[in-house]
Amino acid sequence: MTLQTLTTGNGQPISRLGLGTVKLGRNEQVKYPQAFSIPDDLTAKKLLSTALSLGINIVDTAPAYGQSEERLGRFLINQRHEWHIVTKVGEEFNHGQSHFDFSKKHIRFSIERSLKRLRTDYLDTVLLHSNGNDVDIIQRDGALDTLLAIKREGLIRYIGVSTKTTEGGLLALNDSDIVMASYNLRYTEEEAVLKKAETLSKAIFIKKAFDSGYACSTEAISKTFKKIFSFPAVASIIIGTINTHHLENNLALLPKQKAEL
Ligand SMILES: NC(=O)c1ccc[n+]([C@@H]2O[C@H](COP(=O)([O-])OP(=O)(O)OC[C@H]3O[C@@H](n4cnc5c(N)ncnc54)[C@H](OP(=O)(O)O)[C@@H]3O)[C@@H](O)[C@H]2O)c1
Repeated sequence: MTLQTLTTGNGQPISRLGLGTVKLGRNEQVKYPQAFSIPDDLTAKKLLSTALSLGINIVDTAPAYGQSEERLGRFLINQRHEWHIVTKVGEEFNHGQSHFDFSKKHIRFSIERSLKRLRTDYLDTVLLHSNGNDVDIIQRDGALDTLLAIKREGLIRYIGVSTKTTEGGLLALNDSDIVMASYNLRYTEEEAVLKKAETLSKAIFIKKAFDSGYACSTEAISKTFKKIFSFPAVASIIIGTINTHHLENNLALLPKQKAEL
C-alpha cells in the first residue's frame, strides 16, 4: 500500500482535510469547550454538501458517535462513491456510557451493522476504536487479524487502528494500512508513529488536530497544518466541525501544495 492508493470509491484521491462527525450524532460525554446542539437534518445535509463542493471527500464516523452513521447513510445515499467513509469497531456508546468489545463476533456484527446504517456494500476504512489498551487489542484480542479477514472478503478497502498510545501506534503500523493518531500543538507524543509510517509507506489520519477545539485561532490553525503536513505520511487531518464557516476558514488556511505554488 502506498499513500497514492487512498481514494474514494470512485477513484478520486482523498482530500487533505476530512470531516469528523462526532458532533453530528452525539453531544453527551464529549470534551469540547462549548456545549452544542446536534444539527438538524437540513443543517447537517448542508454541511456535507458544502464540504463535498469544497473538495472534502473523506468523512469519519463510528458506531460510538450516536446517530452519526445512520444519518450519514441517509444523507450520502446518492453520493456514496464520491466519499471515502471511515468508520470504526470496538466501542459502543449506550445510555451515556462507552463499553468495548474487540471479539471476532462483535467485530463482524459491528461491520455488518455499519454497512446497513451507512446504506452501502463496502466501507472504505475500518479502524479499531481503541479504549487505550492498544497493544492488548492488537496482540491479545487479535482484532487486526479479524479486520484483515473481513477485508479479504471485500467488505472493507483499508484497515487500521485509531490508537491512543505511541507504543500501540508503532505496533499497529505493521499490519495496518492506516493509523489514526492524535497530534496537535500541545500534544506531540505520537510523533514517532508519524515518522515510522513514512518508512513503511503507510498512511496516517490525524484526529484532535485543534486539541478538540482548544487551539482554533487563525494563528494556531496555520501553525498546526504546517507542522502536521511536514510529516509526509499524513494523508488527511480529520477536523470535527458542524460550522460551514469554520470549514471554509480551515480550508483557506491549508498550506499550498507544491503543484499550486
Ligand atoms: N478514534 C477516536 O478515538 C477519536 C477520538 C476523537 C476524535 N476522533 C475523530 O477525529 C475528529 C476530530 O477530533 P475532535 O472533534 O475531537 O477535535 P478537533 O478536530 O481538534 O476539534 C474540533 C473542535 O474544533 C472546533 N473548530 C473546528 N474548526 C474551527 C474553526 N475554524 N474555528 C473555531 N473552532 C473550530 C469545532 O467546533 P465547531 O463545530 O463550532 O466548528 C470543534 O468543537 C472527530 O470528529 C472524530 O471524527 C476520533
